[in-house]
Parts: sequence; structure tokens; C-alpha cells
Amino acid sequence: MTTVPTSLNKNQLPDGLKTPALFQLINWIARPFEYLEEYTEKYGDIFTMRLFGFPPLVFIANPQGIKEIFSADAQCFDVGRTNDLARPILGDNSILLMDGTRHKRERKLLMPPFHGERVKSYGESICKITEQVASHWEIDQPFIARNASQEITLKVIMETVFGFSEGAKCEQLRSLLAQWLEITASPARSSFIFLKFLQIDLGAWSPWGNFIRTKQKIYDLLQAEIEDRRTNPEKLGNDILSLMLSVTDEDGQLMTDDQLKDELITLLVAGHETTATALAWAFYWLEKLPKVKEKLLQEIDRLGKNPDPIEISRLPYLTAVCQETLRLYPIVPIAMARLAKQDVEIMGRKFESGTTFIPCIYSTHHREDLYPNSKQFKPERFLERQYTPYEFIPFGGGIRLCLGYALAMLEMKLVIASIISKYNLELADNKPIKPMRRGGTLTPSNGVPLVLKGFRSSC
Ligand code: HEM
Repeated sequence: MTTVPTSLNKNQLPDGLKTPALFQLINWIARPFEYLEEYTEKYGDIFTMRLFGFPPLVFIANPQGIKEIFSADAQCFDVGRTNDLARPILGDNSILLMDGTRHKRERKLLMPPFHGERVKSYGESICKITEQVASHWEIDQPFIARNASQEITLKVIMETVFGFSEGAKCEQLRSLLAQWLEITASPARSSFIFLKFLQIDLGAWSPWGNFIRTKQKIYDLLQAEIEDRRTNPEKLGNDILSLMLSVTDEDGQLMTDDQLKDELITLLVAGHETTATALAWAFYWLEKLPKVKEKLLQEIDRLGKNPDPIEISRLPYLTAVCQETLRLYPIVPIAMARLAKQDVEIMGRKFESGTTFIPCIYSTHHREDLYPNSKQFKPERFLERQYTPYEFIPFGGGIRLCLGYALAMLEMKLVIASIISKYNLELADNKPIKPMRRGGTLTPSNGVPLVLKGFRSSC
């Protein structure tokens, strides 16, 4: 990275490319990783990107700067307000769109099922769901890793949110969600998320028309489930929907159906797309780099037959493989935007209230001073060095740290261990795989085609 001037007058934003804002937006949608590399090459670890339809965005890929943002007082930055792009997908009542006390209260409500002992208790069902999905694979029949992992992660999040992951209701919701998310599954199709003028309903066959109609069908199913539980309280269980149905706010009010539906869809979407993609990347690296897979298998085999999920989750090399997967091609290239509500000082520079900052996950994860040969997949780096929460940031940080990070890490570890310890997989072809935009996430371009070659004799 090149060095940049150390001081700026208040109001003067860091440098950035002078190309037209529409051109910058197209680059950001179509080739985000390459574009970030061009920026860091030219401007270092703080720069301003100007995207059509957005305020100037100050990108930060410097651990000190990221620390200053993540550890700032909740009063300093708004985040929900900057998430307008997510509104048509997740609705007005999504935690992603909240700020201040409302956000704090919502996190307090949703956090317990995703942390501590509760998360550990999902271990058995993650392994069971993985086994169910993998049992359909046939020898020499190629399949797409991302589709298989999406089936697993969607079932896991449904189990967490609704308390069930099987049956007709579940299948209907699962297939509608998959169909809905597929509508944004390429850079071109992601465009209507970024460009509001493309959000016009020209009937069921137009992309936006299809998007809103499919979403309505999902909301109808969620509504039916909410009504069923409200009228049959004996169906309330230990799941998140039951929890949300029973909680009241400070005025004693229950959550409304609209609030419930937006929050359910947020958890269902945020809770499975990302983890599914992370798993697809992990399988790609493991099949691409046999030495890494061999070392991982040795570690897993040392636990003996039918190991406890908790023991699996503590394995150091497995943890490092998951971390390196999330580092090299972070599923979400940037954390959510932070809008300064007051004048702030970041990296010794003064910025006015109203400046928007983007903690840049991808560029931080490719700093050569932190991650030498950063394009190489090398899990050992996580065993040799302890990274701070401002250097390794796949789940963002501070008060907006990903709500599901503990569940995501547990899922990655258990799915990988369950599969590689039992199935002999190979890449189905040698075509190069590149990261490609899928809505707000970056996914392997061809979903990683794999083929089952047999079963491991140790099982
Ligand atoms: C590998 C998987 C995942 C990755 C890489 C990931 C990444 C992220 C990132 C980068 C953020 C933004 C944090 C920030 O701006 O500081 C975030 C927020 C969030 N994530 Fe995840 N996530 C993953 C899995 C999950 C899962 C399993 C859930 C399930 C509940 C989840 C729910 C959320 C929610 C609700 C937020 C918003 C938090 C808030 O606004 O306070 N994520 N995630």
C-alpha cells in the first residue's frame, strides 16, 4: 500500500478516484474485490469512494481506524439509517435498519438464542441435518457445493427460528426463499438492489415484479405460522419465533405481525446465505489443497469415532481453516456503513458530522503487513499469530458485530468435519473459480462443483 498524507483539514475527505460516480458504482457492483485492490494500491488504507446515488464513502482498512470506529460510543454513529438498500428485502422493522435504543433492545432480545450454551445445543441437529443432506449424494454424480450447503444452513436456521426443519411447511418456505434469493444471484441481477429506478413492478415476469411477488408468498407463509402459534399457545417452544411472540416492550405491547415478519425474514436471510457461501469456499480450498485437507483429517480422526460436537468445535486447525476461509474471500466485503452523528477524529484526521465510514473487511484482510502472501490460503497463519478484532473482521464489530457469528462458526466447523470425515469428495472440474457478487455477498462464481468418489474407510 502507498502512504497517504497524515493530516487533513476538517471537511476535506481522503482522496479517491475521480472517475464518474456511475462508472464507480458499476465497478463496485461488477468487480468489488478488484476495484478495492485498485483503490488500496493507489490510495493506501483510507480513501473515498464516490458511488452514484450514495454520499461519499470513506473506506477504512487500517486496524487503528477500525478500532476507533468499532469501539466508539453508540451515540457517535448511526448504522440502521445507512442501510436503506436492505429495506426492500428485509422490511422497515429489521434489526439492520434500527439505531439507538430500539436497536439495543432488539439485540438484547435476539442475542441469547445465538450465544453461549444455547448455540452449543444446536450441535447435534447441525450434524443430523448435514447427514440428511449428504445422504442423497451419489457416487460419480456431480453436485454444486453451494446448493448443498445452502440446504443445510437454511434447515439449521429454520430449526433455530421456528423449532422445525422438516415437513411440508418447511419445504415450501425453503424452496420459496431459495427461489427469491436466486433473483439477485448475479452482478446484473443484483443491480436493482443498488439502483432504485430499476425497482418498478412491470408484472410477474419483470425482475422486480417477480421479487416482490415471491416475497409476498413468503410473508403469507410467515403470517400463517404466526397466527397458528398465537391461536395455539401450546405450540410455543424454545425457538426464536416463540420468544418473539411472548416478549413485550416497555409499554407492555407485544410485537406486531409486521415487526415479527420483518425480523423473521432478516434472520432467515442473514442466517443462512452467508454461512452457505462460506462453506462452499471451504470445500473449494480443501479439495484444491490436499495437504490442508490431509492435515485437517488427521486432527479430526484423533477424536475417534462419533466425537462430541463440542470437541469438534474446539479443534485448532479446523478453527484456523474456517478463519482463513473467511479471511481470504470475506463473504461480506465491507461492514455496514457508519454515519457520524458528530464531528469525529479517525486515524488522527478530523471529520465532520455527516461523514459516512465503511470498515473495509476485504482490504483489511489483504494487508501484507498482517497477512503476508495474502492471496494464499494458509490456515497456519491463525495458529502462529493472534489477530485482534480490528485485524480479522469477517463478522464486522462493535455494537453491530454479527448477531449470528457463534452459530456461523459452529456450523462451519461441524458441517466440514461431518462431511470430510465420511465422504471422499473431489472438485468436479478444474475450471478457475472467481468470487462473484450475489446481492450484498460475494460467492464462488460456479458454486463449486464437487463429485462424490467414495466413502472413507475409517467410518
Ligand atoms: C459466515 C457467516 C456470516 C458472515 C460472514 C456474517 C457477516 C456479517 C457482517 C459483516 C455483519 C455486519 C457487522 C458490522 O457492520 O459490524 C453482520 C451483521 C449481522 N448478521 Fe451476520 N454473518 C454471518 C452469519 C450470520 C448468521 C448465521 C446470522 C443469524 C442470525 C447472522 C445475522 C446477522 C444480523 C442480524 C446482523 C445485524 C446485526 C446488527 O445490526 O446489530 N449472520 N453479519
